[in-house]
Amino acid sequence: MAISAPIDATKTPAWAALQKHHDELVEKGISLKDWFAADPDRVEKLSYRAGDLYFDLSKNLVTDETLKLLVDLGRACGVEERRDAMFSGEHINTTEDRAVLHTALRRPASQKGELIVDGQDVVADVHEVLDRMYAFADRVRSGEWKGVSGKKIEHVVSIGIGGSDLGPVMVYEAMKPYLDAGIDCRYISNIDPNDMAEKVRGLDAETTLVIIVSKTFTTLETLTNAREVKAWMLEQLRACGAVDGSAEQDAEAIRRHFVAVSTALDLVADFGIDPENAFGFWNWVGGRYSVDSAVGLSLIIALGPERFQQFLAGFRAIDEYFESTPLEENVVALMGLMNVWYVNFFGADTHAVLPYTQYLHRFPAYLQQLTMESNGKHVRWDGTPVTCHTGEVFWGEPGTNGQHAFYQLMHQGSVVVPADFIAFANTSNPFVDEGQDVHELFLGNFLAQTKALAFGKTADEVRAEGTPEQIVPARVFEGNRPTTSIFGDTLTPFALGELIAVYEHITFVQGTVWGIDSYDQWGVELGKQLAKQITPAFHDDEALGQQDASTKALIEFYRATRR
Ligand code: F6P
Repeated sequence: MAISAPIDATKTPAWAALQKHHDELVEKGISLKDWFAADPDRVEKLSYRAGDLYFDLSKNLVTDETLKLLVDLGRACGVEERRDAMFSGEHINTTEDRAVLHTALRRPASQKGELIVDGQDVVADVHEVLDRMYAFADRVRSGEWKGVSGKKIEHVVSIGIGGSDLGPVMVYEAMKPYLDAGIDCRYISNIDPNDMAEKVRGLDAETTLVIIVSKTFTTLETLTNAREVKAWMLEQLRACGAVDGSAEQDAEAIRRHFVAVSTALDLVADFGIDPENAFGFWNWVGGRYSVDSAVGLSLIIALGPERFQQFLAGFRAIDEYFESTPLEENVVALMGLMNVWYVNFFGADTHAVLPYTQYLHRFPAYLQQLTMESNGKHVRWDGTPVTCHTGEVFWGEPGTNGQHAFYQLMHQGSVVVPADFIAFANTSNPFVDEGQDVHELFLGNFLAQTKALAFGKTADEVRAEGTPEQIVPARVFEGNRPTTSIFGDTLTPFALGELIAVYEHITFVQGTVWGIDSYDQWGVELGKQLAKQITPAFHDDEALGQQDASTKALIEFYRATRR
């Protein structure tokens, strides 16, 4: 079915109504303090459950009317129709003419035969690969799979970049309390050889399994690193006498120590990897939406198939919720719509994501690719220019570290920074310090920050503390800084799957309102092409002569400086 042209959100009556509503709110004066006082049901009305996560939207700059108008906007822009089109496998990625089916990666096996897309039984294909991965991971975890010298695998080195790296790294870091097989993972992504050098330092090649992860299997960084690690592996194995340097033994070493994850299985075979040890996925899985595909192989090895299944079940819980809940009650859709509210009506250029668990320290980086590679676009899915500002910058760091760094700007700066706070009631590492439960101290900070951001501190309150008059203004907190709190029980594999799916769908909602194809990424191409043209200029005068004046000067500096 042909995908219809995007609706211009800015031309809808809902947009005009939101603009008017915004202006009226500003004119009257936005005051979360007053809104809370005037409406004792505000928290109840603006609290939601999705899966087993609790969401508090009450500290956002929204009223009942705002949410109603945002839902109208979502409806006018066809969020529900496009959601259904996505889940059913229509080619909503128009510029690449592809279905967008990351949601199929977490459908249960019982749905085999129910989703046929482009002639493919998608769920059957997904489970065929999952079953092979589970079997492979079990062999590695149990020690049945051995390195070339007969030793059990104790380390996994996963090589990939972007979506083939950020998801696995983030999940591996987040799931550290659940690692139980004595296998540690290291992730190499940067083409800077320093990355590889540091990651293989101290590794025993005989007990190391390498996973090359690349959707296309053409990515410069990944293939360069793969060749470097291959050379390192063979050199180490020869040095310890595990192989004798013959072509047969080298090939056997590669077979025992290298596996691959890709949609391009022919290129994997060309690299010398046994097709038996290659795990596929499909062009309908975008790189940044792929952590729950074969791209997560390192996680299945480290965490075990059962925990990976729980991870997938978390995604699925949110998919089902998002797909079946009407927009007015759908907190995931509402969060996407609120982001549009902040970007387009309050001029917010950035959005902070602040996990109150150290285990999620890579979550903001993961979200940067998810959200910014998806919605950082200047044209809509039919090639026409976007009609409003799109794609805010996502960023963040775990609390409480961020509190001692950038929260100053969030509390008292002159720009609006909507922020999501994420916390869990239980910790894997309880600790009592001088009678104080440290996790409660930590959570107290999470609550204190959202409270301070929302309600601030008036000049009178500052004065009442005996503050000298001349520094009263500097100590005033205006408040009305919008936050959403996401609170969970424990950061389990299930909860993490839920959290990722929440942000995947938030991204979808924003992209749909803006009319964007959130599933292509042409913006990364030009730099890749130019890097190929420029690199020879370090040595080649003709190539140097073709460069612009600035690039030329930088290369001349390099030539004069490099030893
Ligand atoms: O350069 C951007 C990108 O294409 C991402 O979208 C992708 O996740 C990453 O590169 C890695 O690509 P691949 O998995 O094909 O190596």
